[in-house]
Amino acid sequence: MSKTPKVLFVCLGNICRSPMAQGAFLHVASKAGLKLEADSAGLHGWHVGRPPDRRSQAVALKYGVDIGDQRARVLTPADFAAFTHVIAMDHEILRAVKKMAPDPAPAAVSLFLDHAPGRAGQEVPDPFYGDDDGFEATWADVMEGSEGLIRIFQTV
Ligand code: 4NP
Repeated sequence: MSKTPKVLFVCLGNICRSPMAQGAFLHVASKAGLKLEADSAGLHGWHVGRPPDRRSQAVALKYGVDIGDQRARVLTPADFAAFTHVIAMDHEILRAVKKMAPDPAPAAVSLFLDHAPGRAGQEVPDPFYGDDDGFEATWADVMEGSEGLIRIFQTV
């Protein structure tokens, strides 16, 4: 019997992309009837303990997902044993995540949009310094990534 998948999404500040990815992924998994766990973390501690950016919360809520209970935290080496999958939002984050990961890492480390058909190698751009449209684009990206990612858990 395989253990419950535990997926950790990682971005820079843990207030925009990865909290939205966590919310989208749990939403998609629940609709698919999958029992999964998810969390998110950042590479930097700028916003530790804070809820997601209000723009992230607003766009997630607009699509029926409340991410207001999440609190920012920093990625730690222990996460590579606590989670089965560690998912990076862009290439810079993927590089930093791989650098922190023990070798061999118990968790599978990957780029989020590598799981979305036709989007391999693409990044989820950082919306923090942009306008509200950027957050809409982030939501679309994290939904597409999530719908792709859950397929690896449906084949068991
Ligand atoms: P995130 O976005 O990595 O998607 O959470 C950012 C959030 C905050 C900052 C940068 C990116 N910042 O510079 O504070």
